[in-house]
Amino acid sequence: MIKIKKLNHRYNNRKENAVRDVSLHIRRGENVAIIGSSGSGKSTLLKCMNKLIEPTSGNILINDEDIINANKNDVNRIRSKIGMIFQNFNLIERNTVLSNVLNGRLSYNNSLSTLFGRFSKEDHLIANENLKRVGLTKHTHEKVMNLSGGQKQRVAIARALSQQPNVILADEPVSSLDPKLMKEIMDLLGNICKEKNITLVVSLHFLDFAKKFSSRIIGMRDGKIVFDDEPAQLTEKDVVDIYGKTKDWYLYGKAGF
Ligand SMILES: Nc1ncnc2c1ncn2[C@@H]1O[C@H](COP(=O)(O)OP(=O)(O)OP(=O)(O)O)[C@@H](O)[C@H]1O
Ligand SMILES: [Mg+2]
Repeated sequence: MIKIKKLNHRYNNRKENAVRDVSLHIRRGENVAIIGSSGSGKSTLLKCMNKLIEPTSGNILINDEDIINANKNDVNRIRSKIGMIFQNFNLIERNTVLSNVLNGRLSYNNSLSTLFGRFSKEDHLIANENLKRVGLTKHTHEKVMNLSGGQKQRVAIARALSQQPNVILADEPVSSLDPKLMKEIMDLLGNICKEKNITLVVSLHFLDFAKKFSSRIIGMRDGKIVFDDEPAQLTEKDVVDIYGKTKDWYLYGKAGF
């Protein structure tokens, strides 16, 4: 599903690479957590995966298609099947829940009709079905700005699902939520992806979450992958390798044991 070969990314104004020599193969339907300290390169790696940022070198295949060297139309087509979920939800706050979820259908429509908010019956059907799946039917016509954090992330999940994606990339989807909601949202996301055989790649801060919710853990440190295996294989030494004996290790890693 996702094949990454010798990926490097260095931001313009930086001396060091944010992602260093990353090679990775993620199969269809896998549920992968990327963990690591702040600045270890998790977001950069996720953003490279759908070419939100262009890697300095290396290659990425999504479903056997080269997204990095594709032309603009092809990048858009490949991206239309990749749902994105962010820590800060990235929703249009003044618009309704339904309108935000319908935005997941944009790539299935021509831009003129969507400019006037015209979505097809099928689009509405799909949006409503996904709102139901995330438990938000009651809030369909409410403005996003009036919802709680957990509800907003549910809207973002419904929007991603409306793309009918085969991959969901989630960059710290639960970091702005309280622990109870964190679990709820991770359960929801994990269950839906399992049901629909969607490949899920999620960056997480807390190791115990990654162990609970993912079937594969990728540990990053200073832009490099330093661990890649099933949660059961992770030893305390690996955790120290990932986080270093830092505040992050104490905060995020140690709690996983
Ligand atoms: N837009 C940018 N310009 C320059 N450097 C950047 C930019 N974004 C990230 N970096 C640098 O790249 C490195 C990796 O950052 P990245 O955001 O990928 O880490 P992260 O693992 O997602 O961290 P966090 O857990 O804090 O979200 C860091 O050293 C960071 O300072
Ligand atoms: Mg990040």
